Amino acid sequence: MTSTAREAQTAPSTSSQPLSLRRLPVHVAIIMDGNGRWAQARGLPRLAGHRAGTENLRHIIDASLDFGIKYLTVYAFSTENWARPKDEVEGLMNILEEVIDMEVPRLHEKGVRVRHIGALEGLRPELQRKIRESEALTRENQRMVLGVAFNYGGRAEIVHAVRRILAEGLRPEEVDEARFAQYLYTAGMPDPDLVIRTSGEQRISNFLLWQAAYAEWYFTPVYWPDFDREELRKALEEYSRRERRFGRVPNPKP
Ligand code: IPE
Ligand code: IPE
Ligand code: MG
Repeated sequence: MTSTAREAQTAPSTSSQPLSLRRLPVHVAIIMDGNGRWAQARGLPRLAGHRAGTENLRHIIDASLDFGIKYLTVYAFSTENWARPKDEVEGLMNILEEVIDMEVPRLHEKGVRVRHIGALEGLRPELQRKIRESEALTRENQRMVLGVAFNYGGRAEIVHAVRRILAEGLRPEEVDEARFAQYLYTAGMPDPDLVIRTSGEQRISNFLLWQAAYAEWYFTPVYWPDFDREELRKALEEYSRRERRFGRVPNPKP
């Protein structure tokens, strides 16, 4: 056996090859949870956990690109997270601002389109400006869409959509599911096929309430900063084994 052939056979599973699974989700959404507990377990402040989680997100974006995921949406800050201590909230705002400065040029080079999923109102003006600029810069990119759910709440999103529909004066018969979805922050994106939640919690926490109606869910006890490429691979493998039915009977007899 040539060394190349041997390498190919024993290639570590950390390779950056696209996954050849029976079925790959088009849209993966992740509730990145467990940063605080990750930090606590190490005797570190919570913000150190958020920094580690942010670092991890870089790797998961790269892994998603390698695996051929077309849409990745990550839950970074919920409308409920405003209720956290002031310094934690401020720290999370600073982290987002830094991430935009440091990472967006890199993401742009890789062909990633960045979309903000959530409300701009309520964020400080400088952050709003940076978010708008990153969206504008990456608008034409085709390789992957990265949805960043920041200041996002599923209920607020639905109310926001209803308000816009009313303001535009749509007639009741003009509103159907497809039309309604155009008023959500995710307009134009396919629904998530797979939603992953790390850290052992098994709840939706106001994430993509409308869009996740038929998503497959994957829960893992792993804290977000430790959820690496291999953990993502496991989630995708599990997804490829699921049978999605959408309310139908599988393989009905003719
Ligand atoms: C998720 O980690 C990140 C955000 C909600 C911003 P947490 O901060 O919720 O971590 P735990 O759940 O307290 O461990
Ligand atoms: C959900 O996590 C929000 C994000 C990951 C950004 P939380 O940690 O805020 O959710 P709960 O409070 O445990 O439901
Ligand atoms: Mg949490």
